[in-house]
Amino acid sequence: MGCCAWSARSPSPGLARRDVVEGFRLPASGELRHNRHFMPDRSAVHHPLFARLWSLMSRHEPANVSRDRGKLLAGLSGRVIEIGAGTGSNFAHYPATVEYVIAVEPEPYLRERAHAAAAGAAVRIEVVDGVADRLPAEDASFDSAVACLVLCSVPDQAGALAELRRVLRLGGELRFYEHVLSDRPVVALSQRAVDRLFWPRAFGGCHTARDTPAAIAAAGFEVEAQRLTRVSSIPIELPVSLHAIGRARRC
Ligand SMILES: C[S@@+](CC[C@H](N)C(=O)[O-])C[C@H]1O[C@@H](n2cnc3c(N)ncnc32)[C@H](O)[C@@H]1O
Repeated sequence: MGCCAWSARSPSPGLARRDVVEGFRLPASGELRHNRHFMPDRSAVHHPLFARLWSLMSRHEPANVSRDRGKLLAGLSGRVIEIGAGTGSNFAHYPATVEYVIAVEPEPYLRERAHAAAAGAAVRIEVVDGVADRLPAEDASFDSAVACLVLCSVPDQAGALAELRRVLRLGGELRFYEHVLSDRPVVALSQRAVDRLFWPRAFGGCHTARDTPAAIAAAGFEVEAQRLTRVSSIPIELPVSLHAIGRARRC
């Protein structure tokens, strides 16, 4: 179904039917967040300080991260769901072959910024409230999913991946760009230590020691391509320096 087929009486493609109250007018994009009948499970993610910090960091992100966003999304087409969209830093990188994007963002401050980014994007993007481990979407309703710097922050990574698998059609693609557990034992040790001591509390629930590619494979995806890259503006490896960028097929 093309974007132009979205009607005032049918739910936006990809949004779960259980969110539709019978006889209730579908709100236009952007009204969704003000309408309690249409709210998918209202999220409890509220990190006001981290949200402001991330918003600032997003505006000054290193050029190589910006380039990686472009590589992450290159060649995507059809119906896409992005989880934890933040301020919408990926939105400008979606290729014109994408039919529409449902961008799920639970944090209110970030979601407001994502709405603004969506309004200026070249492809149709609908920003909605929701959490990754309870996606407001029907089974098999997307061709592709995007997880970018978010699987570190979800409280239940296996639950989020199970949800991504559920909403992707068979053979659909998961694109991921995540900082991951280091392949250097000393750095991995320091990642585990900072996760225990303060990191998730200081940075919006972020964990540095997650082996996300392994979790993706364990969740029923076939990792088809993956590249490790070190993202750091200083010469020492930080707990969030090592990133994995890749794509996995929903089996
Ligand atoms: C480090 S930011 C990355 C934002 C964005 N993906 C980007 O690439 O700039 C982590 C994001 O994950 C979101 N997040 C945290 N917990 C989440 C959850 N349970 N479900 C979905 N998103 C979540 C945060 O609100 C935030 O937007």
